[in-house]
Amino acid sequence: MTAFDEAELLAAARAAQQQAYAPYSKFRVGAALLAADGRVFAGANVENAAYPATICAERVALPAAVVAGVRDFIALVVVGDGPDPCTPCGTCRQVLFEFAPSLQVVAAGTGGSVARFVLERDLLPQGFGPERLP
Ligand code: THU
Repeated sequence: MTAFDEAELLAAARAAQQQAYAPYSKFRVGAALLAADGRVFAGANVENAAYPATICAERVALPAAVVAGVRDFIALVVVGDGPDPCTPCGTCRQVLFEFAPSLQVVAAGTGGSVARFVLERDLLPQGFGPERLP
């Protein structure tokens, strides 16, 4: 597993969280995605009056990286409101799996609680990825 500066990534996720648009749930989420080249891509949840159109923080960060030409990732930090670590939702796990099955995922809450995972091992075992397609 590639080492990375978790505190720095957590700070980036917290900064992004401040930009969350979450008037409906009031649950703000920030994400910071560390690429293999050292770049960090941030995201925050962006909700919508048509609730299902809401976009999670992780799915703001990842496409931003892809559009920047980046497809190799080391780690993701997600931080949400509330005391418990904010683990990625199922849709976000699947979207991340497409590019980074071995992604290191750090979930954090407001009170300093942190949980650490490896995507393919802990969050999406036996996930469906590109190699499954003939
Ligand atoms: N949310 C995220 O941004 N990421 C997750 O992985 C979990 C949920 C957002 C979506 C919605 O705006 C709010 O949290 C409540 O579900």
